[in-house]
Amino acid sequence: MKIDGKNQYVMTLIMAAGKGTRMKTNKSKLVHKIYDKELVKRVADLAKKIGSDEIVAVVGHLRQQVQEVLGDNVKYAIQEELLGTGHAVMQAKEYLKGKKGKVVILYGDVPIIRKETLENLISKSIKNKEYATLLTAIYENPTGYGRIVRDEGGNIKAIVEEKDADPLQKCIKEINSGIYCFDIEELVNALDYIKPNNAQGEYYLTDVIKIMNDKGLKTGAVIVEDNTEILGVNDRAQLELLTRVFRMRINAEHMKNGVTIEDANSTYIYDDVEIGVDTVIHPNTTIKSGVKIGENCELGPNAYIRENCELGNNVKIGNFVEIKKTKIGDNTKVPHLIYLGDCEIGKNGNIGCGTITCNYDGKNKHKTIIGDNAFIGSNVNLVAPVNIGDNVLIAAGSTITEDVPSNHMGIARERQTNKEKKNK
Ligand code: UD1
Ligand code: MG
Repeated sequence: MKIDGKNQYVMTLIMAAGKGTRMKTNKSKLVHKIYDKELVKRVADLAKKIGSDEIVAVVGHLRQQVQEVLGDNVKYAIQEELLGTGHAVMQAKEYLKGKKGKVVILYGDVPIIRKETLENLISKSIKNKEYATLLTAIYENPTGYGRIVRDEGGNIKAIVEEKDADPLQKCIKEINSGIYCFDIEELVNALDYIKPNNAQGEYYLTDVIKIMNDKGLKTGAVIVEDNTEILGVNDRAQLELLTRVFRMRINAEHMKNGVTIEDANSTYIYDDVEIGVDTVIHPNTTIKSGVKIGENCELGPNAYIRENCELGNNVKIGNFVEIKKTKIGDNTKVPHLIYLGDCEIGKNGNIGCGTITCNYDGKNKHKTIIGDNAFIGSNVNLVAPVNIGDNVLIAAGSTITEDVPSNHMGIARERQTNKEKKNK
């Protein structure tokens, strides 16, 4: 990858072998999702986003499930026995050996770290010529984490695990996130010196810091600004917490970009959604990944905008409307109680209340194409595949099974008869 204009080899190693005992799950913890993406997939995607030259996942417990999710986008090292984080990295030695550059260590269950934070970590590591650069954080309650021990000059001396820490060290509030950027060659050298002589009888990756310092190799740290980034998922409550943090982060980003969100607490915008300025989102709206929304639109309340939707400008998607794989042109209104799937609608249209596309025949999905200036009356069934031209009016209550040419009205319903009541 290119860092500050220079070419640099960077591998990312994802630690993904651990058990998720506290999740109380029959599945691998790592295949649980935040929004629509598995935890470990989020981490692998992040590794890709920062431009990693190679991504290796250390897998073990329920590894088939993890491998199914990651596929061949990454390489795998297998850790048969969970003997600690240092041991996990040792299993990836065959990928590390002989390479010159940096390796970033990530955890498969720490999924909402920002791309910019990792880029900053790598670039600081290179700029400061450090052999190990740690991502640390200041925690008011550091219990459970490895503590960062610094000397009087502020240089990092070692990481001490909670279970090995003395009472004084336990008071240290700077903690190890477990995310690092290492020089590959010196990491490989240091791995040979890690011994499991500690309270947990594990091979600690954290020992590498002291090993490097003893050898006179420079180490350093970057303190993360936003502590929520390094949160991990160990149980369902943490999964909910991280989902919430992630959601609020995305919502905040859209608001910063000029989108009005009436109630961020009840707005669910997935990753990689584009929304134009002055669009207003009412409560209980869900917008799935990859959706593109123009400017000055109005969405919700209770709108469900699913995958592969594209909305132009000034589009209204009102309450109890679900749309999927649907493109809608400028100024078209889809105001209430509507389902549109696999649909394309032109500009300046109005779709009546209760309209649905019948897009699924039980086996396949079919398209509904509607031109510009459509006026679709209330409670219309559009039985796909069907083409509706420009300037078409569809009478309320119609079940449309055949194409309607431009400038026509389509009507398909029983004629009303009024019968006199016999027993008045
Ligand atoms: C580790 C750090 C600790 C840090 C903390 C942050 C060590 C010794 N300690 O703690 O300083 O504050 O992370 O969360 O590294 N894993 C494997 N194989 C193993 C063991 C772990 O793949 O044999 C994976 C786990 O699945 C997890 C990650 O490595 O994703 C960290 O393991 P975990 O046991 O949570 O961390 P600690 O060892 O408690
Ligand atoms: Mg552990």
